[in-house]
Amino acid sequence: MSYLSKLPKPFFVLAPMDDVTDTVFRQIVAGCAPPDLNFTEFVNADGLQSPGRLKLLKKLRFTPGERPLIAQIWGKEPENFYKTARELADGTFARELGLPVGVNFAGVDLNMGCPQKSEVNNGTCSALINDRPRACGIIEATRQGLADMLPLSVKTRTGFNEVDMTWIEFLLGQGLQMLTLHGRTKRQMSKVPADWGIIGQARELRDRLAPDTLIVGNGDVQSRRQGLELAERYRLDGVMIGRGVFQDPFIFAGNSPWPDHSADKRIALYRKQVQLFTKTWQDGERPIHTLNKFCKIYINGFDGAKELRERLMKARDTEELTRLVAETQQAHYQA
Ligand SMILES: Cc1cc2nc3c(=O)[nH]c(=O)nc-3n(C[C@H](O)[C@H](O)[C@H](O)COP(=O)(O)O)c2cc1C
Repeated sequence: MSYLSKLPKPFFVLAPMDDVTDTVFRQIVAGCAPPDLNFTEFVNADGLQSPGRLKLLKKLRFTPGERPLIAQIWGKEPENFYKTARELADGTFARELGLPVGVNFAGVDLNMGCPQKSEVNNGTCSALINDRPRACGIIEATRQGLADMLPLSVKTRTGFNEVDMTWIEFLLGQGLQMLTLHGRTKRQMSKVPADWGIIGQARELRDRLAPDTLIVGNGDVQSRRQGLELAERYRLDGVMIGRGVFQDPFIFAGNSPWPDHSADKRIALYRKQVQLFTKTWQDGERPIHTLNKFCKIYINGFDGAKELRERLMKARDTEELTRLVAETQQAHYQA
């Protein structure tokens, strides 16, 4: 029995977001209010099995406090999924990442939903919705690599150009431990509201076809309470939240203190993230501008926030940013 079946119902998941939910931000969210389950950003299995492996390892980096953590992979070649899954499951990657003995990923997820042109044109991610033989080959290869050591899941969309229940049926026939459904088609990108009715239909299909596969709904959830309501209405096992965390880093808390957080506290949280970022990415693995999107989360909702943001976002390196944030914090204490 995998740990997935021991999660609370409904369980809450922090969505994988490339260049956002790295180890640093997951630690920040865990420090505010931890989700029940974390995902890594998507990482390319073909790249991990190439000379470029070392450069990609940053996407798999984590600390024990971010567990349980599922590694999300994508790519083209089943053989590379096999090797990557085996190395995730047997602890090879954990060792390469320098994690303590016994600390490992809690599962492997296959990205079959990313709608970006480069991925789709290459026949990967959401393109797999239209390429069932390859999707099947990738799932099978990953399962063999995992050899029952870790659970296997898929995250996908409701269809390619149109809602396609045959795709959901196909996935429910694959013996997955978990299926996460983002309630939009590939064509819809993020342009229309997520359709939770379709997620509910997928759960009904699950009840008939694959009662052991957990169903997680995803799309536009802005608060824990909304997530609970959706899980109850559509009888889902879990709810995944992505961009909602930009509105409230405490989104997984039963009672979020964020709306009442003073400017001081908001700035302090940003400072914590800048410090952790500086400590974690010492060799320039992540450019400083990736911190700008976080600036908008914290430096927000108080007088002068916009001007302050503009100043902070001009910082050229982490030293300058650290100094500016510290000065700002001091000025706020004195005010
Ligand atoms: C900046 C960004 C990066 C994303 N990267 C990934 C990714 O690496 N893997 C993935 O499965 N989904 C990725 N997504 C999709 C999210 O996981 C999620 O499905 C989507 O944002 C809808 O959920 P939300 O409305 O709660 O944000 C990304 C979304 C955003 C906004």
